[in-house]
Amino acid sequence: MSSNSVLVTGGAGYIGSHTVRQLGEAGERVVTLDNLSKGFREAVLHGDFVEGDTSDRELVSRVLREHKVDTVIHFAAHTIVPESVEDPLKYYRNNTCATRNLLECCVDAGVKHFVFSSTAAVYGIPDDVQCWEDTPTSPINPYGMSKLMTEHMLRDLGAASDLRFVILRYFNVAGCDPEGRIGQSTPGATLLMKVAAEQAMGKRDALYIFGTDYPTPDGTGVRDYIHVEDLAAAHLNAIDYLRGGGESQILNCGYGHGYSVREVIDMVQKVHGSPLNVIEEGRRAGDPPALIAGATKVREVLGWQPKYDDLEEIARSSLAWERKLLERSR
Ligand code: UD1
Repeated sequence: MSSNSVLVTGGAGYIGSHTVRQLGEAGERVVTLDNLSKGFREAVLHGDFVEGDTSDRELVSRVLREHKVDTVIHFAAHTIVPESVEDPLKYYRNNTCATRNLLECCVDAGVKHFVFSSTAAVYGIPDDVQCWEDTPTSPINPYGMSKLMTEHMLRDLGAASDLRFVILRYFNVAGCDPEGRIGQSTPGATLLMKVAAEQAMGKRDALYIFGTDYPTPDGTGVRDYIHVEDLAAAHLNAIDYLRGGGESQILNCGYGHGYSVREVIDMVQKVHGSPLNVIEEGRRAGDPPALIAGATKVREVLGWQPKYDDLEEIARSSLAWERKLLERSR
């Protein structure tokens, strides 16, 4: 633990809010900066809150100074892949240019450690199902490219300054706080587990399977679903690692094994106790057949020890949160 503060950008969002909660439980001083474009003020359960944007130079510099920030965890970003294809400049503005501003403020304020939310989307459609950190990067959409550009900025800045960083490349994040205090509330979500939970609660008429003719065991896409609690914990491990003097790293975040779309749906149906309305559709453009994290380095380097590598718990917490949202809206 440190007497300095951790700045969490996007701390009112899905992964950010789970991380802020865990930082609070660990006794860290935290300040969240979020423009509330997608996040929720009530999801920030710990520390100070500042409403604003990472592109606001004056504001960011003031927050870094007033809160004596030595470490930044940067979640704030747009994350919807199809939207990034339709409006690429929105993604480069927010995910790349605003991050450039944030980094400049960090250098000026003497911030030492930076943890960055990157994505498996930097790999594009890889030759092998399993991606390792040295698998060539080749994003196939502006979302992935906007994140990869930030990775490059960090690499170059790390070489030119004292800033050390951990880049975490997330695979498929799913699940919610097991105690149901916070969850995924993003409107218009596209992620499979969230969509399945919404269908179970009757918020959607149907759940569409995008492609049943992939070269996978049951013909549907396979992904490495990581529980948001384990992913949040990796950020705390990354902070400890950097404060302990660790050198800059790029690390995949996943479990190293995957489930198909049908397996996910079967689990949601089992936990929910009744069938979903499932409709088979054609493939969604840009979806790789299977994507699994090569996930040994994050364990070795950070000492990360996942606790929720359990699809049933991921489905249970997702359904419980969706039920809560439904009850609140009534
Ligand atoms: C997500 C991430 C992406 C990351 C990738 C890593 C977001 C918005 N996307 O994308 O950044 O690179 O994980 O693996 O965070 N599916 C359906 N029906 C649905 C929704 C999804 O069949 O209604 C299928 C998809 O075709 C895919 C699987 O479910 O096979 C997962 O899709 P999704 O949850 O959208 O995540 P990714 O596209 O993998």
